[in-house]
Parts: sequence; structure tokens; C-alpha cells
Amino acid sequence: MITQEKDMMKAWQLKGFGLENLILEDIQIPVPQAHEVLIKVGAVSLNFRDKAIVEGFYEPDMVPNPLTPVSDAAGTVVQVGEGVTRFKIGDRVTSHLYSKWIEGAPGPNEPDYCFGSPLPGGLAEYMIIHEDSAVMAPSTLTDEEASTLPIAALTAWYSLVTYGKLQKGDTVLIQGTGGVSIFGIQIASALGARVIVTTSSDEKGERARELGASEIINYSKIKDWATEVKRLTDGKGVDQLLEVVGGAGLNDSVQATKVTGQISLIGFMAGQSTDLNLMEVIFRQTKIQGIAVGNRSAFEEMNGAFDQFAIKPVIDTVYAMDDAKKAYEHLSRGAFGKIVIKIS
Ligand SMILES: NC(=O)c1ccc[n+]([C@@H]2O[C@H](COP(=O)([O-])OP(=O)(O)OC[C@H]3O[C@@H](n4cnc5c(N)ncnc54)[C@H](OP(=O)(O)O)[C@@H]3O)[C@@H](O)[C@H]2O)c1
Repeated sequence: MITQEKDMMKAWQLKGFGLENLILEDIQIPVPQAHEVLIKVGAVSLNFRDKAIVEGFYEPDMVPNPLTPVSDAAGTVVQVGEGVTRFKIGDRVTSHLYSKWIEGAPGPNEPDYCFGSPLPGGLAEYMIIHEDSAVMAPSTLTDEEASTLPIAALTAWYSLVTYGKLQKGDTVLIQGTGGVSIFGIQIASALGARVIVTTSSDEKGERARELGASEIINYSKIKDWATEVKRLTDGKGVDQLLEVVGGAGLNDSVQATKVTGQISLIGFMAGQSTDLNLMEVIFRQTKIQGIAVGNRSAFEEMNGAFDQFAIKPVIDTVYAMDDAKKAYEHLSRGAFGKIVIKIS
């Protein structure tokens, strides 16, 4: 049991922006307070957000110094604080990004309670999670696999299922083959949707097809991909679209989505602001739904579906804890599937 402040652990500490300021140190193992659990971290996975935090362009004013980075972690409960009822020692859990958003609508200040900034993240041997912010890991997944779920998978699930009310036979367009998008392909196809994927690579397109996509559009060859989507959908457009790119392409997404269809506005890779043709949105009565990952109850529902449909997260590479910087560099180069760091 961790009771002494002298008990130490290895933890990566961000002490200023830039990967050069990410330093592996020995720090005190935190002691769980009332209603908190101490997790022996098995693995963490990286998201675009983690890279943006290190590089200083994701809410830089909220990043503490030092910070234990990385929001998405999976591990085993090794100690519980007073009054904990949701978990016991030995349970395998994951973190939940919006740690206070449990169910229903989000509160006005959920970003103030996110792991990996401003709250300490999981790139350390141990991590504290309030019992309300931990989620039982799917029984069918390893820690490496479960660590990929909290942001990437839940964002796709919340978009498609919670807001999108995905029905069997719906047609979904998923942009790209990044972390969120691969989960989108897997979830939508498991639930019986027809999935169209845009990608810059024929090879990635083939891998997307193996995961359940039925049609692939290479957007580096077919610039007017929205017209191609309409052609594939008898001129109507898709029921739902996962917008991970953002920027001016949002206008193309409006065209590629059916009248009254839903665009889940997830990413901002091509820009955090854009000129949007409002008349098209008005005439097509497009629902543009902002997405901020999702709440814990949806996470738990999703984990049930992962077990039920035997969905296995796609992992590109697993790095050792000592090689965390190589993992960040790999994320910057691009990957097919999640980049995971094994901790223990
Ligand atoms: N709002 C939220 O809750 C939330 C949650 C998670 C992520 N995000 C955001 O969503 C975005 C994606 O995150 P991620 O973790 O999935 O990123 P990622 O793993 O780095 O994947 C990015 C993918 O986007 C695709 N892409 C880039 N430009 C494209 C274009 N013009 N058209 C179609 N696809 C394009 C590429 O796919 P190909 O290689 O196949 O071309 C690339 O692999 C980021 O902006 C991230 O911050 C938001």
C-alpha cells in the first residue's frame, strides 16, 4: 500500500512547451484521497490533443508546469481511498477525459477537469482517478487496447450513436483514417451502416475496407469528393458525416450530407475557423453538431458494444515507456491506428 510520500514512481513531466521539455523523472506516488482510486497504469495512448498540448497550441494557458501528460490510460486499481464504492482493488479501468461529465448534457466548464491538462495524465507508473471518472475496461481488451478508447473511440461513438442515433442501413461518410475515423469505421459497420471513407492513400483505403468500409474515395486524386459521395448515394448524400478535417472543406461536407442529415464537427486539422455558406446549410437544413468527446454513461454503453461485437482497436505501434518521445514523433509523422505507450 502507498502511504508514504517517499514512495516514488517514474513519470514523464512536461516542463515547458516542446518535446525537448518532456523529461522522465522520479516523483512521489500520489496517495488516493476520499473517493479516489490509485491506478497502476498498464498503457496510455496518444491523441492529436496530447501532441498539441506538448507543442503549446491547445489551450496553452490551461497547461500547468510541470504536467504529467496524456489523458487516455488503462490500468489496474491497486489502492482505493475512503468511501470508494464503484471499484475494488484488481479492477481494470480506463480514464474518462471529461472527468466530471457523467451523463446528460455537459456542464459549462468541462475542459477545466480534463486529464492530461489541466489534471495530471497517465504517462506515469501510477495515476489518481476519482471513482466517478473511471470506467470499467471492456473484458475482451488488453490494457494496450483499452487505453485507445477514452477519446478516439468515444468521440466516434458519441457522434454516430448518441447524437446521430445511427440505424442499421444508414450511410455514413468518414473522413480519413486517423484515430477517431478508424473507430468510426469499426463502430458504424458493426452497427450495420454502409460506410464511405475518404483517404489520401489507396493502401490505407484497402485497410479501411478490411475494417468494414464499403466505398473508398481517394481525396488526393478526386478533389471534388463531395460530388462523388452524391453519385454513390443517388444524388442524396449521406445520413451522417464525421468531420475530422474542419476548415473550408466543411462546405463540401454540407454538400455530401443529405437534406436534414447530421455533420458531427469533430476536428480542426485544416483550420479552427472558416467561411461557411450559410444559405446551403439553411436550404439543406443540415444539422451541424459540435462534438466534445462524450460523457461517461455513453462510454460505458460503448464498452458493452465493444464486448458484444468483438471490436478490436487497431494499434499501429506500442512503444516502451522510456521511448515516449519516439511515440510522439510517430504520431506527428502519421499512423494507421493508435500509438500506444506500454507502462507496465
Ligand atoms: N472534438 C472532439 O471531441 C475530438 C476528439 C478527438 C479528436 N478530435 C480532433 O479530430 C481531428 C482528428 O483527430 P485524430 O486523432 O483522428 O487524428 P489523426 O489520428 O492524426 O488522423 C488524422 C487523419 O485525418 C485525415 N485527413 C487529413 N486531412 C484530410 C482531408 N483533407 N480529408 C480527409 N481526411 C483527412 C488523414 O487521413 P488519411 O491519412 O487517410 O488521408 C489523417 O490520417 C483532430 O483535429 C483532433 O484534434 C476532436
